Amino acid sequence: MTQANTVVEHLGAEYFCDPYSVHARLRAQHPVAQVIMPGGTPAWLVTGYAEARAALTDPRLGKLPKGWRPDPDSLVASFDLHMLNLDPPDHDRLRKLVNKAFTARRVEELRPRITAITAALLDDMSTRREVDLLASFAFPLPITVICELLGIPVADRDQFRAWSATIVADTVSPEVFQAHATAMLGYFQMLLAARRREPADDLLSALVAARDEEDRLSENELLSMAFLLLVAGHETTVNLIASGMLALLLNPGELARLRADRSLLDAAVEELLRYVNPVNNATFRFTGEPMEIGGVNIGPGEVVLVSLSGANRDPSRYADPDRLDLGRDGGGHVAFGHGIHYCLGAPLARLEAEIAFAGLLERFGSMTLAVPPDELRWRPSTLIHGLESLPVRLGP
Ligand code: HEM
Repeated sequence: MTQANTVVEHLGAEYFCDPYSVHARLRAQHPVAQVIMPGGTPAWLVTGYAEARAALTDPRLGKLPKGWRPDPDSLVASFDLHMLNLDPPDHDRLRKLVNKAFTARRVEELRPRITAITAALLDDMSTRREVDLLASFAFPLPITVICELLGIPVADRDQFRAWSATIVADTVSPEVFQAHATAMLGYFQMLLAARRREPADDLLSALVAARDEEDRLSENELLSMAFLLLVAGHETTVNLIASGMLALLLNPGELARLRADRSLLDAAVEELLRYVNPVNNATFRFTGEPMEIGGVNIGPGEVVLVSLSGANRDPSRYADPDRLDLGRDGGGHVAFGHGIHYCLGAPLARLEAEIAFAGLLERFGSMTLAVPPDELRWRPSTLIHGLESLPVRLGP
């Protein structure tokens, strides 16, 4: 057996800003390394491409610690009993309930509406010379789309943006976490009660019917599903659009290439997914039994963190991985995960990104960063790799 890293890496502020350097350093020693999460939890971080893909399809790595189930009356149960936290058969039962709404064909039907939302946001930005592209565009686009799909009032978006940011951050106190999670739970309970009184033509109403009329999920599973779809539906795509645009601004040759040849757009979205990694690491997996990953022996009940951004920048899979190359065959990237938890919303995210980048390039003949790159701030999360804001100057 190979020895993992001898010095255990503590993931903190440096990691939030630049996970890539940390991964490269760890991977050079071994593709499976011991780390300490910001909250103090020890974990095994998998940074190699082959090791990451193998781990994400290994049934011995489960989503819940073996035998653990939350107390049904707890806050955890109201949010955590969703497909991304569950193993088969519960995972498959829950995913089946919403699968149809997210197929490439169903999502394609949303194209006119996504185009209209994008156009309205671009109109609004056109009146200003300098904007925060994240707050004015990259966030409102996906949040509006997912709210409309679910049937959640878009007007409340700033409120649940704040709650959700707290929930995915690694650095909030337990008290703040508890307060925000409780507020968000109350909000969802209120929404679901409204759909029970008055069903509408939206996904939340369909899920309420699946619960009440067909008994296909529990009340906690219903709440958790609404939470997952809302959070996964925007926390991720916002980063693809904002970090993707930043990557283009920092690589003006690639930006010019895309402006000159729009047929590159689909390939560009794939390369940007590989390169910017909106989701930095997959969610926790737990070893159900002693096992070996990438030649390292791991005991039962341990946390395994599969690094998607680590895998996507592994030089053994992608030549010159830290270079943005829109002409690259970026296929096989794991930005949407791999295995049974592969992103449900991938077709929607791709469509939103395609419309967003096309719209931005068409509307603004010039776009430049309004601050030096080293002044940009990244969110304090090991899960999400995303900017706090993206100030840009716009020109026709
Ligand atoms: C660029 C945008 C997106 C990225 C990079 C992304 C990434 C991911 C990743 C990496 C996973 C797997 C996590 C793991 O295995 O631990 C995942 C799962 C998931 N994503 Fe996305 N996602 C995006 C957009 C969306 C959207 C728009 C939705 C819409 C609802 C969505 C819904 C989900 C759901 C429900 C799961 C859980 C699937 C399961 O457990 O079977 N995602 N996503």
